[in-house]
Amino acid sequence: MGKDVIVACDFANADQTLAFLNRFSGRKPFVKIGMELFYAEGPAIVQAVKARGHRVFLDLKLHDIPNTVKKAMAVLSRLDVDICNLHAGGGLPMMQAAVEGLTRPDGSRPLLIAVTQLTSTDQQVMERDLLIREPLARVVEHYAQTAKAAGLDGVVCSPLEAGAVHAACGSGFLTVTPGVRFAGGEMGDQKRVTTPADAKTLGSDYIVVGRPITAAPDPVAAYARCCEEFIG
Ligand code: C5P
Repeated sequence: MGKDVIVACDFANADQTLAFLNRFSGRKPFVKIGMELFYAEGPAIVQAVKARGHRVFLDLKLHDIPNTVKKAMAVLSRLDVDICNLHAGGGLPMMQAAVEGLTRPDGSRPLLIAVTQLTSTDQQVMERDLLIREPLARVVEHYAQTAKAAGLDGVVCSPLEAGAVHAACGSGFLTVTPGVRFAGGEMGDQKRVTTPADAKTLGSDYIVVGRPITAAPDPVAAYARCCEEFIG
């Protein structure tokens, strides 16, 4: 897969999501479905979006004992999503079990990526709440290497970390990066942001973009601008 823009469809229900996607008559965006929408609508929303020809990143960030994650991933593999994810903090055995569970009888499986440290976690939260005393950048790099050792395909990280992850894990190891804003755009609650063009320069493979597209006066134009800046 080449570089692409993934639109975070952080809507409360199926009606709003499908009304939003109906606006795209040309290129069909790669869609991210997160916890809010999935918990509201269940697997049917994934099937509805897939049936309209979109690729889907199902962002449920699993984190549990290996046996539970393995069984949950087996269920997700039957939904025909293109990318799903988990927390690298669950450890190597959990990630290995996830790969096993996700792999279909014919050997195929969706791409599986790991959240390293959430972008809402900073050095202070890591040290105070998690008792992790290494520098955040080192923790992200180590979690990425552990994800790779478990057989995963990449990580969710900041565009600012994409270069270090590729250096540690190889250029084929995917970096999927939220925290993207147009130059001069609203930051919202994101703290460390880059433009689509900067994310491209920094080596992100996929950018995840929500409000700069979903809340734009013309979402189709905002998506086109994002693709133009990031993919070229
Ligand atoms: O609206 P915005 O562009 O900030 O949306 C970013 C999306 O990426 C949201 O769905 C958010 O939950 C997700 N995300 C993130 N940071 C992470 C992981 C996921 O912003 N570390």
